[in-house]
Amino acid sequence: MSPAPVIESLPEGLANLADFEAPARARVSDAAWAYLSGGAADEITLRANRAAWDAIRLHPRVLRDLGHGHTRVTLLGRELRHPILLAPIAYQRLFHADGELALGHAAAAQEAGLILSAQASVEMELVAAPMRADPGAGPLWFQLYWRDDREFMRALLRRVEAAGFQALVLTVDAPVHGARDRERRIGFKLPDDIRAVNLGGLKKPLDLQPGQSALFDGLMPRAATWREVDWLRTESRLPLLLKGVTHADDAREALARGVTGFVVTNHGGRALDTLPPTAALLPPLRAAVGPDVPLLVDGGIRRGTDVLKAIALGADAVLLGRPYVHALAASGALGVAHALRLLRDELEIAMALSGCKTLADAGPALLWPGAPA
Ligand code: LAC
Repeated sequence: MSPAPVIESLPEGLANLADFEAPARARVSDAAWAYLSGGAADEITLRANRAAWDAIRLHPRVLRDLGHGHTRVTLLGRELRHPILLAPIAYQRLFHADGELALGHAAAAQEAGLILSAQASVEMELVAAPMRADPGAGPLWFQLYWRDDREFMRALLRRVEAAGFQALVLTVDAPVHGARDRERRIGFKLPDDIRAVNLGGLKKPLDLQPGQSALFDGLMPRAATWREVDWLRTESRLPLLLKGVTHADDAREALARGVTGFVVTNHGGRALDTLPPTAALLPPLRAAVGPDVPLLVDGGIRRGTDVLKAIALGADAVLLGRPYVHALAASGALGVAHALRLLRDELEIAMALSGCKTLADAGPALLWPGAPA
């Protein structure tokens, strides 16, 4: 039995996801805020993600019969009520005492999907329980970083499967942290009482000789390669998605190795700075993989119109990131559920105003061509 999350009241006057940011800021330490908000280096990619969605203009159709339209989509063979999932974000007890426990309840209540971070600060079984108990809940997936210990990984996979997770999402774009200046300036480090509780104590010390590089001689020999992708494919019956493939050749290689789908991302601008925005990465990847491979996208999604634009550019679903952590910090599970509801409502309004009865109607023709008007 999973403990119940704390039920708090919502801040006054909430109209959209951005309205959670100020109340969240007031409740989060400066160091945790730097960790959550920061991007890599000059934050060019972080800003570009938002700017790219803003720069796309919608070109609606009118007078269509939209009666009995809906936001349903099919993902990995399952019909979902809407195409919104919560992105994997580490250590959420930094932001609220309930941490990830709140996510399972909020996602279940709003029929949203959840991709739980391997670095969650709450036991995966507790997070999964409310979603497993709710037949209307969205997809429940588990994000992984590769750990160079096959026995450890095997045990983790068995635990993830037993907890009811339905797919694995291997992050491939961050074998090392990006150079995140905001965290460095403030000296961010995890408080002693917040840990990646699902990963146990495993941490092999780097065994370096004088003159060796901590990065290239320490971390990189332990990082995932295509060989580890193959290993994961054979070790688990769960579908495997890769998060962080941006090049069409890598996407094709992954498909040839039995990968099921992709999260199109630049890690919220937190890994390699100056990657293109995800709105630009998405169309060529869709073209490379064809119409049937599941593609999800994240990075700067804040509005129902952003969700609609993402679908029109070729995504099957979107991941919400930092804004739901703002909602978590501001008001726990109820905040996250409310944020999801706001985004769902905005998506429905955007569809109705664009002449889209279903999301299958959202394609390139919905987007004003060329530069923004
Ligand atoms: C980050 C790692 C945990 O972006 O994915 O902070």
